[in-house]
Amino acid sequence: MEAPPTTQRFVIAVCSNKGGVGKTTVSANLAIYFRALQDSWPVLLVGLDDQSVLDRMFRLEPALPGEGHLKHGWAERCFDRVIQRGRYGVHFVPPPPDTALLKARAQDPYTLRRILDRTDWRGFVIIDTKSDLEALTLNALHAAERVLLPVSDRASLEEAAKVFTILDRARLGRDRARVVLTLVDRRTRVDGAGRDLHDRLEDEIARQGWPRYKNFLSRSPRLEALNSATVHPGSILHHARGTQVHGQMRALAEEVMQEAGVAPSAAVRADRPTGPQAPSRRPGGPDLKRALLRGLRGMR
Ligand SMILES: Nc1ncnc2c1ncn2[C@@H]1O[C@H](COP(=O)(O)OP(=O)(O)O)[C@@H](O)[C@H]1O
Ligand SMILES: [Mg+2]
Repeated sequence: MEAPPTTQRFVIAVCSNKGGVGKTTVSANLAIYFRALQDSWPVLLVGLDDQSVLDRMFRLEPALPGEGHLKHGWAERCFDRVIQRGRYGVHFVPPPPDTALLKARAQDPYTLRRILDRTDWRGFVIIDTKSDLEALTLNALHAAERVLLPVSDRASLEEAAKVFTILDRARLGRDRARVVLTLVDRRTRVDGAGRDLHDRLEDEIARQGWPRYKNFLSRSPRLEALNSATVHPGSILHHARGTQVHGQMRALAEEVMQEAGVAPSAAVRADRPTGPQAPSRRPGGPDLKRALLRGLRGMR
């Protein structure tokens, strides 16, 4: 039996001041795995960046002249008009050509929260941020129930510390943030005792007392190749099935969902077809069900 559409919303922001730590990769692939794991929770992806990776990955149709994007949604204080159906059953807000003007309209850090409150959206919202801690990223931190902090090395660990400090100062509470280890090559030995970088980072995170996800993403040559070889950066679920990073991504998605109080759908897990088709705009229609069933083939 099809699950009824949710009446709730859960906002996740993925943040790090450091570039190349996997923010966009985690945001995009979490969106895809969430869709595949629970069909009653639609997913809206919002990129607060002017880079086009998410657009290339999720867009189904070429952009029409005058098409609405993030800047219009921001100006209208509501995303209803600009949300598009995308590949893999994920909805998205098209990115603006640049974010300079947007930043000027984001000085109040609760602006995005209010926009989402006025937007008719129930389900997950995933916000991929730019590699900075400026106005738009602060808006993401103020809008999110959960903040994911990708850490791939010592430098990004230090950047995560800054986000915890911002959350404390803004009285948002550091317990909404979780470190997630990404891109860590477990073969990198960093001390004479044979401990690797992953172990060292874990030790440091424990020492700081920071909350973190137990699941992590290793550096994956398959994923690296996938993203450099194609115009549409690859969905791990659709293009790297059977690899270690697929298992890791799925486990991470399940862990994040569980924390959000969303259980994977047993009915969907039993079926496993695939296909990057879009569902209907709102959850629950027959289009959606067909798309999700296609999206799930070969989940394990
Ligand atoms: N687990 C991984 N294994 C290998 N390459 C990865 C992995 N995660 C991300 N990448 C690659 O690293 C680069 C930076 O990732 P990206 O998600 O764009 O980082 P950010 O958004 O933080 O700048 C991209 O080329 C991406 O394909
Ligand atoms: Mg990015």
